[in-house]
Amino acid sequence: MKFFIDTAEVPEIRELAATGLVDGVTTNPTLIAKSGRKILDVIAEICDIVPGPISAEVAATDFDTMLEEGRKLARLRPNVAVKVPLTPAGLKVCKVLSDDGVKVNVTLCFSANQAILAAKAGASFISPFVGRLDDIGQDGMELIADIVGIYREYPAFRTEVLAASIRHPMHVTEAARLGAHVVTMPPSVLRQMYSHPLTDKGLAAFMSDWAKTGQSIL
Ligand code: E4P
Repeated sequence: MKFFIDTAEVPEIRELAATGLVDGVTTNPTLIAKSGRKILDVIAEICDIVPGPISAEVAATDFDTMLEEGRKLARLRPNVAVKVPLTPAGLKVCKVLSDDGVKVNVTLCFSANQAILAAKAGASFISPFVGRLDDIGQDGMELIADIVGIYREYPAFRTEVLAASIRHPMHVTEAARLGAHVVTMPPSVLRQMYSHPLTDKGLAAFMSDWAKTGQSIL
C-alpha cells in the first residue's frame, strides 16, 4: 500500500519525507490557497522533495483550458500527476493526457459508476472521498470496497484506488483492509498512526529498567 500526504505545506512534506514512508503527495486548490504560495512554485518544490507522483489540480472547468493547464502542470516536472475533476470535460482531459503518457488523478469521486468512467478514461488514480461521504451519513468505505471489487474484475483497468478525504487512522486501516492501492492523508493522520499508549508505557518501563543495569550498548 502506498502512502501519499495531502498537503501543500513544504516544511511538513520535507519532515515527513525524511521518514522514508511517503510515496507521493496530493494537493488541491484549497490546499494551495492555504499555503499562500503560487501553485507552480510550490508544486515544483514538492516534486524535488518527493520522487513519487505529486498531484497538481487544474483550476478551470472547461475542456480547452483544463487541457492547457494540465499540460503546463505536467511540463513542470516528470513526477507531476495532473488532477482533474470527475466531470465530462475532466474525463475528456484525462483521456487525452493519459494517451500522451501523463499520469492523471481523477478527483471528487463519490460513486462506483464515476470510478468506472475514470478507469475507462485511462486514469492512473481515482480519488474517492471517504470523509466527505461519511460527513453526509453515507459509508465512505463501502465505496472503496465497491471500486476495489469492480476494478479487480477487469485486469485491463490500470487505475489505482487512492482513498482520499481521510480523517483519522481508522480510515487508513480500513482502506488497507479493503485493498486500496494508495491512501492520501493529512500529515496529522500519518503522525497519529505511530501512536499507541501501550507503546509509550512499555518504552518507559524498558528505559527505566535499562537505566538500572548501568550498561551501555555503545
Ligand atoms: C484528495 O486528493 C483531496 O485533496 C483531499 O483528500 C480532500 O480531503 P478533505 O475532504 O479533507 O478536504
